[in-house]
Amino acid sequence: MNVMVVGGGGREHAIIKKIKENKSIEKIYALPGNGGISEDAICIGIDAKNIDEIVKFAKNNNVDYAVISTDDPLVMGAVDKLSDAGVPCFGPNSKAAVIEGSKVFSKKFMKKYNIPTAEYEVFENYKSALEYLKNSKYPTVIKADGLALGKGVFIAKNYTEASEAVYLIMQDKIFGESGNKIVIEEYLCGPEVSILSFTDGKTIIPMISSMDHKKAQDGDKGPNTGGMGAIAPNPYYTEKIAKICMEKIFRPTIEGMNAEKREFKGCLYFGLMITDQGPKVIEYNCRFGDPETQTILPLLDSDLFDIMRATTNQTLSQLKIKFKNKFSCCIVLSSKGYPQKYETGFEIQIPSDIKKDINIAGAKKENNVLVTSGGRVLSITNVDNSLEAAIKGAYEKASKVYFENKYYRKDIGSSALKFR
Ligand code: AMP
Ligand code: GLY
Repeated sequence: MNVMVVGGGGREHAIIKKIKENKSIEKIYALPGNGGISEDAICIGIDAKNIDEIVKFAKNNNVDYAVISTDDPLVMGAVDKLSDAGVPCFGPNSKAAVIEGSKVFSKKFMKKYNIPTAEYEVFENYKSALEYLKNSKYPTVIKADGLALGKGVFIAKNYTEASEAVYLIMQDKIFGESGNKIVIEEYLCGPEVSILSFTDGKTIIPMISSMDHKKAQDGDKGPNTGGMGAIAPNPYYTEKIAKICMEKIFRPTIEGMNAEKREFKGCLYFGLMITDQGPKVIEYNCRFGDPETQTILPLLDSDLFDIMRATTNQTLSQLKIKFKNKFSCCIVLSSKGYPQKYETGFEIQIPSDIKKDINIAGAKKENNVLVTSGGRVLSITNVDNSLEAAIKGAYEKASKVYFENKYYRKDIGSSALKFR
């Protein structure tokens, strides 16, 4: 079979490495892929948002199955168009992808189906938002409605910060049309848990739990990023919490989406906060998380490609999905200055013995040399028998990779270790 993976980050690299284990796969294309992915797949220079070209490529190259793992093409309808062209896909259609594509949709959806989440208000008008913020309780949370590369959330400590955030989103339009509407919501406290799940619209199977680290600096300081590291499993996700989540969040979400005629197939991601009142949904994503995927997939004992096809064919209930009884830690190495200003173009040196543990995100090949080309450059995953050992080994590997302006957090997993 020929498979096409649409995207070009560390997450896609991890997915490609994992589906390669399936013997029925002959060729894997990555659109656009990146300099590191080119060692595991055939990279084709088509942008992930160029849906018409993606469909044309699939038709002209006998693509039998497409994996759409990045948010923009899903929200823009890549699965709809590929399916119409006869190419089966892993991922939701655009009607279902709206669960991530619009925060206003997802908040209204949760309210309608009684799914626990933060209290909120929606604003389409800049002045009304400011008026509301004058009497708000602080801290408060301000979110752009649409996609914003994971950076559309502001936690404001006071009115000044809140009004600045609203100005940036609604007037300055730093996220473009994504900022036409905003959600202002209650600030919640508690440990965060990421649950990625496989679903075919009928059955939902949560993967092993994980914990992302979104802030740029140690101690969860600095601006939000696309994710600076992750660990799995997440100790805060106890069996008791898992049971509550299945009953009050996961099943109601699948059933609610069906009731809305937005049947969801693919990977549904639940960003949860374990509050004093129980688990609440912070966000939904319509795809695998990054860097959670790089942390989780090395623990998956079952065949990822078989699972993906079962979500498309709606035969997920027939599969037994197994995860290793081990621990995993993933550390993201970024360019110093990310997510703000950073320099790129530096050669990356990776010792050959740890290459298999590395997924490349922001790097390209220049004269056959891998050089940095993005904010998040690569991630390193280490699996071991305890969380302590997984973290220690990941840091040892991180110290062996070299590129100028290399930056990484030194405390990935430390809050998970505090759980007793
Ligand atoms: P999101 O992109 O919606 O996941 O938000 C990014 C990050 O902002 C989350 O991982 C949380 O750390 C934080 N966040 C989002 N919503 C809230 C909230 N209602 N209360 C507290 N923190 C939040
Ligand atoms: N790790 C969070 C995300 O993928 O959005």
